[in-house]
Amino acid sequence: MNIDLTNKVALVTGASRGIGRATAIRFAQSGADVIVNYVTSRDAAETAANEIIQLGRRAWIIKADVSEKEDVEMMFEFICNEIGHLNILVSNAATGGFRPLLTASNKNFDAAFHTNVLALMYLVQSAMPLLEKGTTRGKVITISSHGAIAGLPMYGLVGASKAALESLVRHFTLEIGDRGVNINVVRAGLVATDSSRRLPNADKLFNDQINFTQVGERILLPEDVANTILFLASPLSDMIQGETITIDGGAAIRGA
Ligand SMILES: NC(=O)c1ccc[n+]([C@@H]2O[C@H](COP(=O)([O-])OP(=O)(O)OC[C@H]3O[C@@H](n4cnc5c(N)ncnc54)[C@H](OP(=O)(O)O)[C@@H]3O)[C@@H](O)[C@H]2O)c1
Repeated sequence: MNIDLTNKVALVTGASRGIGRATAIRFAQSGADVIVNYVTSRDAAETAANEIIQLGRRAWIIKADVSEKEDVEMMFEFICNEIGHLNILVSNAATGGFRPLLTASNKNFDAAFHTNVLALMYLVQSAMPLLEKGTTRGKVITISSHGAIAGLPMYGLVGASKAALESLVRHFTLEIGDRGVNINVVRAGLVATDSSRRLPNADKLFNDQINFTQVGERILLPEDVANTILFLASPLSDMIQGETITIDGGAAIRGA
C-alpha cells in the first residue's frame, strides 16, 4: 500500500521551519491539504504554504502561540469554521533554550513546559471533536528527542519536557484510542535546524554524528524525520498506538 493522504487535512504546528516545514511539504507531496502554523516567522510560513500550493494542495497559514490556550482555541475556531475537518495533528513546535539547570529560572521552566508539553494537551483537547469524526482513524504525532531518556549537556529543561511529553502521549492513548484516534511520538536524533544550531558545540555535534550512526556517511535530515511522521499519519500505522519510534540512523544503540 502506498501512502496516499488525498482528501486528508493535516495541521502541523511550527511548520514555518525545520522538521515541521519538511513534514508539511511531505504531507502535501502525499496528497494532503496542510494548515501551516507558526508564531513569529510569517515570511517563512508563507513560503512553505506557497510550496504546498504549487504541489496542487490547499494550504492555510495560522499564527498561533501553541503555549497559549486562547491562541490554540482561536486556531481551532478557524479550522472548524473555515475547513470543517481535520484528520492529522502534528504537534511539532517546541522551544526551551539550552542552559544549565543550576541557573534556570521558573520562567525558563514554564516556557519549556508550556510550549513542549502543555501545548499537546491544548491541541488534542481542541482537535478531538474533529479527529474522531473522520471516516478513517485520526492521527496525532508529536516529536521528542533523546533528551527524554538520556542526560545531555545544557538540555535539562528540554529533556525533562520531552520525557513528560512522551508520558502524556501514553496517557492520552487510554482516553482517545477507543475513540478512533492514534497518538504516537517520533523521537528524532540530531538534525541541523535553527534550534539545534544553537546547541553548545553544535558544529562538533553535527560533524561527529556519523561516528555514532550506523548508516555510513548519511546524516539525519528533516525529511527523514518527516517520513517517519508520514508513516504514523497514514493508515499503515493504525495498529501503532501510544508508542515512541526512534529515527536517528542507529545512534541510540550506542547511547547517543
Ligand atoms: N533539530 C533537532 O535536532 C531535533 C531533534 C529531536 C527532536 N526535535 C524536535 O523537533 C521539533 C522541531 O524542531 P526543529 O529543530 O525543526 O525546530 P526549528 O527549526 O527551530 O523550528 C521551530 C518551529 O516551531 C515554531 N514554534 C516555536 N515556538 C512556537 C510556539 N510557541 N507556537 C507556535 N509555533 C512555535 C517556530 O515558528 P516560527 O518560525 O514562527 O518561530 C518554528 O516553525 C521540536 O519538537 C524539537 O524539539 C528536534
